[in-house]
Amino acid sequence: MERRIVEISLLFMMILRVRTMDMCKRNNDDDFNDSHIGLIISPMMSESIIREIEIYWNHRKYQPGRDKIAVYGNDPTSGVDPILVLDPRLSSGIKSTGIQAEFIPTANLTYHRQCLKYHVAWLRDGILRKINCLETRPNWMAERKSNLGPLQMNKIFLPGTHDSASYAIHKLANREDILEKYVITQDIDVLAQLIYGVRYLDIRVGHYPSTTEIWWANHGIIQLIPLQTIIEQVKTFLDNTDEIVIFDVQEFPVGFQKNLTIHQQFVKYLEKQFADYYLPYGTGWHTTLNTIWSTKKRLIIGYDENDVLRFYDSLWPCVIHQWGNVRTIEDLYRYLNRVETNSIWDYKITPRSAMAELTPNTWDVILNRLGGLRQMAERVNTNVTSWYATKWQRTANIVAVDFVRGSGIIETAIEWNDRRNSNC
Ligand SMILES: *[C@@H]1O[C@H](CO)[C@@H](O)[C@H](O)[C@H]1NC(C)=O
Ligand SMILES: *[C@@H]1O[C@H](CO)[C@@H](O)[C@H](O)[C@H]1NC(C)=O
Ligand SMILES: *[C@@H]1O[C@H](CO)[C@@H](O)[C@H](O)[C@H]1NC(C)=O
Ligand SMILES: *[C@@H]1O[C@H](CO)[C@@H](O)[C@H](O)[C@H]1NC(C)=O
Repeated sequence: MERRIVEISLLFMMILRVRTMDMCKRNNDDDFNDSHIGLIISPMMSESIIREIEIYWNHRKYQPGRDKIAVYGNDPTSGVDPILVLDPRLSSGIKSTGIQAEFIPTANLTYHRQCLKYHVAWLRDGILRKINCLETRPNWMAERKSNLGPLQMNKIFLPGTHDSASYAIHKLANREDILEKYVITQDIDVLAQLIYGVRYLDIRVGHYPSTTEIWWANHGIIQLIPLQTIIEQVKTFLDNTDEIVIFDVQEFPVGFQKNLTIHQQFVKYLEKQFADYYLPYGTGWHTTLNTIWSTKKRLIIGYDENDVLRFYDSLWPCVIHQWGNVRTIEDLYRYLNRVETNSIWDYKITPRSAMAELTPNTWDVILNRLGGLRQMAERVNTNVTSWYATKWQRTANIVAVDFVRGSGIIETAIEWNDRRNSNC
């Protein structure tokens, strides 16, 4: 009797399996279903250009001679002529366009998914086959409640930024001094990062009791932006969407000295600022997204100090940062491959963040050997995107990058959250 049930359920599973395989197979039959084409904004800045648009693509069934890539200043289905047409030549690649994306102040972004002027298309025999655009994704999580709702944060592919508050906004092309070259990690503010689709924020805080602001967003020992400004941006985003955000306070680089009184003052400040927003620890990282949504508190405050967080229900153990501390792209690949293929993460409930950037050493900075953080991000971001789109897309949790618009990690994460949860 028991055996029979087993057999029947096996049979049933096989049928189901054949069905799912069938569905995925059908998708693969379409030459374009596993292909990708997208636009990114280069982090590079010189005196002559800023926000240069780059095209990146991956198309295993590329057909030389028949296939072309075109960039448009508007939706190509409206019949506009392309600004630029090129021959892809290889099945995957990245190409600069010489086109400078215009400056869009954060206040001009909306809370609806929006194409920001530029589109790109893959044409076969002159026919539009695949279209994408430079776009914002302010509601991607809430739009996927039925897929993502039953999951915990460690099972979701989340786009993140490294040193999220170390941003500088340049409207015009400009030169950077050596300090800026190694301190600035993002070219849009935190609100814009969230509107573009980032859901994991890596925040470093300094304590400066002799300033009126007291709490500052730092990069290492460098004091950058009043923390209040960052907090307001996060609240604005939460007020205008139904998204879930992790505000992870990592490291306390200046002025905390492991002093519990100072930490206490800081936690009081965070609790007051985020009073109507943060979700108390409760079941912690075991909490599913559906439960988070049902509480209407959609902010998780992670805190990188165990001796403090156990006293406060407002704080969650921080996300585990996975740092390779590597200086070359090959070493970054080896490191990330190790963490992404280690099954130990299947058993841990605390989310982890792959820190997908190179780390300069002191001499690299003094001698400017790696050319600065923009150049380092330019060197790794498209590789990182392609690794996470083709190798580790099924295991990825949080992936935090520098200059997030210069990577395709946001659209990759969203696409794979869909595919991971539909067995394809
Ligand atoms: C390709 O994928 C899309 C979206 O996943 C799907 O709607 C479409 O039916 C697929 N095409 C084929 C031929 O299976
Ligand atoms: C931003 O919004 C302002 C005010 O509505 C408008 O004047 C300006 O042209 C907009 N800029 C861009 C780049 O869209
Ligand atoms: C901790 O900080 C408080 C407030 O700034 C200060 O009064 C106190 O002396 C500090 N304690 C230690 C052990 O440094
Ligand atoms: C990085 O990307 C470039 C260009 O696509 C490629 O030639 C190179 O092999 C990649 N490097 C690694 C380590 O994957």
